[in-house]
Amino acid sequence: MKILVINGPNLNRLGERDPLIYGGKGWTDIEKKIKTEYPTIDFDFFQSDSEEQVIEKLSSANKNYNGIVFNPGAYSHYSVAIRDAVELLQIPIIEVHLSNISGRDSFRKNLITASRARGYIAGFKENSYLAAVYVLRKIL
Ligand code: DQA
Repeated sequence: MKILVINGPNLNRLGERDPLIYGGKGWTDIEKKIKTEYPTIDFDFFQSDSEEQVIEKLSSANKNYNGIVFNPGAYSHYSVAIRDAVELLQIPIIEVHLSNISGRDSFRKNLITASRARGYIAGFKENSYLAAVYVLRKIL
């Protein structure tokens, strides 16, 4: 099984961001944790701050992966272009957020991209990613 994990803007800077909101781990540690938890799954990891690159990655994923775990970062709240790319996917995609967005700024409550994903998991810091892979495995 091949799963693509996509992270949007500023998620390469975990560890520098508020640990109370995002957890204290950097992305390298989270990546290790995902691989250790699911040793039989073949993961690819991709991060970009660029909306264009995120869209390109989503657009090429249908033929190369069984499923996607996606944290669009701030794009979650306003990118109609990324939402449209998510809508075009034929493979399942689960959106994740490290933070519990329901208890944060009101502008974060608008979940544009999640509305076109199979569902979303938020609030469990790096464990949100583990939970998303768990669900993907169940539905694939
Ligand atoms: C985030 C939540 C977003 O609101 C924020 O802009 C991020 C990270 C999360 O994982 O909690 O960059 O997607």
